[in-house]
Amino acid sequence: MTRKNVLVFRELPADQLARLQAAHDVTVANPRVPAQRDAFFAALPQAQGLIGSSFRIDEAVLAHAPRLEVVSSISVGVDNYDLAALKQRGIVLCNTPGVLTETTADTIFALVMATSRRLVELALHVREGRWTRNIDETLFGWDVHGKTLGILGFGRIGQAVARRAALGFGMPVLYHNPFAVDLPELGGRARLAPLEALLGAADIVVSTLPLTDETRGLMDARRFAAMKPGAIFVNGSRGGIVNEADLLAALDSGHLRAAGLDVFAVEPLPPDSPLRTHPQVTALPHIGSATHETRHAMAVLATNNLLQALGGERPAATVE
Ligand code: DGY
Repeated sequence: MTRKNVLVFRELPADQLARLQAAHDVTVANPRVPAQRDAFFAALPQAQGLIGSSFRIDEAVLAHAPRLEVVSSISVGVDNYDLAALKQRGIVLCNTPGVLTETTADTIFALVMATSRRLVELALHVREGRWTRNIDETLFGWDVHGKTLGILGFGRIGQAVARRAALGFGMPVLYHNPFAVDLPELGGRARLAPLEALLGAADIVVSTLPLTDETRGLMDARRFAAMKPGAIFVNGSRGGIVNEADLLAALDSGHLRAAGLDVFAVEPLPPDSPLRTHPQVTALPHIGSATHETRHAMAVLATNNLLQALGGERPAATVE
């Protein structure tokens, strides 16, 4: 096979980097690291394959990459890529669906539990030496089992969250999706619902939506106001679907009880963001898929995709 030029723009596990180096000429340069940015742009004009994540690949970047054939993203979400510009240049885009489904659903469910049972707040209560007598109702949480869960988006991850909720916690599930999904194992416990009906009925609303032109800013003041008083909002997909100022207002007014957020409009969360310290917000640093096992599986799939595409084969996972 002809050796090609590969540019790795986010760190890869050593075993996957070695697979690439055995077949191709590889440059590693992460443009988000200031000291590596020049090296990234210096390597782009030769690059035939890119592999990485968390960096926007748009027209301005592609203009430096006239030889590019394939971009292999180490992520399932593809909102960082200008799909139209890639298509127009005939560049194949690959991603990593499937391998992160269960881990991301675990993270979302962890936020459901943490917000409802106030786990972070109460762990700090112990750690900071404030547990000096039995806690009283000012520190009680709220049950998760039996509550109604609303799921925005019902792809692989939304369905995996629904299984945890319906089968593990006896929760009725409503989901908002363009079409109904038949999940016989849930025995009718998950039902398709219009958005407004879901927001008005769910005790906990979780987002698993991809970020697109249709979903950007979807959760705004009007949608938060449509949620049940005292409801909880959890976002495990993309920060851009939420108007963060409107979410903060809904928390501050007391309309919403709490929010669990793994994703933000700007990541890492800026130092002055009120979401960092808001007492009703449990914020995580975008760890949806961040376990040793799953991040490795994502790197393997992304490496397979890149090697297949550069070798003229159809990659296991392409974005059409
Ligand atoms: C993805 O794969 O899109 C995740 O957000 C990365 O953790």
